[in-house]
Amino acid sequence: MTEAREEMERKELTRRKFIAGAAAAGIATVGGILGVGGINLAAAEEPVTVTVNGVPLGGPVPPRIEKNVAIAPVRPLAESLGAEVAWDNVSQTVKITSGKGDVNAAAPAWPWKYQKLDPQAVWQAGYDGYYAGACCYGVFSAIIGELRKKVGYPYTLIPVEMFKYGEGGVVGWSTLCGALNGACAAINLVSSEEVYNKIINELMGWYTQAPFPIGKPAKPKVDKELATSASGSPLCHVSVTNWCKVSGYGAKSPERSERCGRLTGDVAAKAVELLNQYVDGKFVAAYKAPNSISDCMSCHGDKAMNNTRGKMDCVQCHDLSNPVGPHK
Ligand code: HEC
Ligand code: HEC
Repeated sequence: MTEAREEMERKELTRRKFIAGAAAAGIATVGGILGVGGINLAAAEEPVTVTVNGVPLGGPVPPRIEKNVAIAPVRPLAESLGAEVAWDNVSQTVKITSGKGDVNAAAPAWPWKYQKLDPQAVWQAGYDGYYAGACCYGVFSAIIGELRKKVGYPYTLIPVEMFKYGEGGVVGWSTLCGALNGACAAINLVSSEEVYNKIINELMGWYTQAPFPIGKPAKPKVDKELATSASGSPLCHVSVTNWCKVSGYGAKSPERSERCGRLTGDVAAKAVELLNQYVDGKFVAAYKAPNSISDCMSCHGDKAMNNTRGKMDCVQCHDLSNPVGPHK
């Protein structure tokens, strides 16, 4: 078979798949595509959920049932099936091209477009997400879930379950706090290198000083007032252990889980606040690092001894009786 023929057959297959998908969701109805023409406005309209590969369709207008036909906005539906949508003003035509439905098509170029989100909604989604898949998944799925609702495609492409690994500082290793890990991934997805560096640095610094947990849900799974603690560290180990010390609860207690659930909401909401500020041109790097870091790095940093790196508070781990070197 020649390459050209192969290509044609692949396109035809993709086209058929697309038409089948479109017909199943009801957009083959001309009235349904544009929401005009042939629609009896007096007919009963009921909201309905349309999912594409299991993901609810996002976009500005919710899908509905009209005259027993499921009607969904063209753009999110077609785009979530991998097609390209264009509007031709002259001929007043919506043009759908199924070429991108090709299984080999690349994902949209990074970074993906961010739209301002409601920190409160993200907080709640983070808290709920914690109980569904732990801290890292909780934050990532909260932010991406809200972007799916607001923007739809391409956020519908990501299996948010890929961030379950971050639980307990990466499968229980208690290294980087999973809530931070998930937030950093989401921030990185929607911002260029120069931007994500600033926002993530701010989030990391804020985390080390924030008295967690901050927010409380309307219906907590564990309905108690919880003690708060700032850990001085982005590490799950330090954060959890300090809180256990302050609160008197065990690391495997339901109260500690509840604390991390609320913290998951706190981190998700903070990440979105920072992104929103950036979009509005109001982002300010407010975090001030402890002096110990610049003190120690004045000798150990790359300008001098060049034998370590990092932004974590040095004296949390190195208890030096004579911090101005060489130490005993
Ligand atoms: C005035 C320069 C200077 C400053 C400031 C400094 N160090 Fe050092 N540090 C040294 C030198 C020199 C050594 C010895 C290196 C060797 O023997 O190879 C050393 C050794 C160390 C060691 C390994 C040996 C030991 O004594 O434990 C650690 C850990 C260390 N420094 C941490 C720190 C930390 C943390 C800070 C900030 C609180 C700090 N240093 C500030 C110069 C400095
Ligand atoms: C989370 C705990 C932690 C933090 C925070 C931390 N360190 Fe360390 N650091 C360690 C551990 C653990 C080692 C390995 C010690 C060993 O093997 O003896 C180490 C090793 C070192 C060494 C080499 C020691 C040697 O024996 O030669 C230096 C120098 C050092 N750290 C400096 C710093 C500086 C400067 C900072 C702050 C920017 C810092 N550390 C922050 C835990 C930490």
